[in-house]
Amino acid sequence: MRREILVLLLPLVLVACQPAEAVRSPAEIAAHAAAMVPADARQADLYSHACKACHATPGTGAPLAGDRAAWAPRAAKGMPALMTSVIGGYKGMPAGGQCFSCTADDYKALVRFMADQPVN
Ligand code: HEC
Repeated sequence: MRREILVLLLPLVLVACQPAEAVRSPAEIAAHAAAMVPADARQADLYSHACKACHATPGTGAPLAGDRAAWAPRAAKGMPALMTSVIGGYKGMPAGGQCFSCTADDYKALVRFMADQPVN
């Protein structure tokens, strides 16, 4: 009997625990990405001249800035792997992400900004 109750309650608990962004529509995710700007002035400049062209534009294949769900599996790869992707290029992304004055620290800050979650 107790097991039946648990089985009945589990879906309710799972639904209640969904993070808010899981229910955002693609349009809301795109609008959020378009509005995001790094707080640091240097990062904001680099971002607006490079990453933003793809990472705030739906349909480019790039995970959109602030789309935590899209970034979660990338964040899970870890920062060293993501640095290899950015610097060397990865699938649809050109080497360096079209940022010609980014340092390694800039890339890390920009990845954390776009992922909107810890990336280690
Ligand atoms: C010309 C378009 C373009 C630009 C500019 C661009 N990216 Fe990307 N980026 C992509 C695409 C497309 C993907 C997804 C590749 C895939 O998984 O198919 C991607 C994926 C990534 C990933 C995930 C890589 C992985 O291993 O999963 C990171 C990190 C990233 N971009 C960082 C950046 C940073 C930082 C900048 C700016 C310095 C930038 N990108 C600029 C197109 C771009």
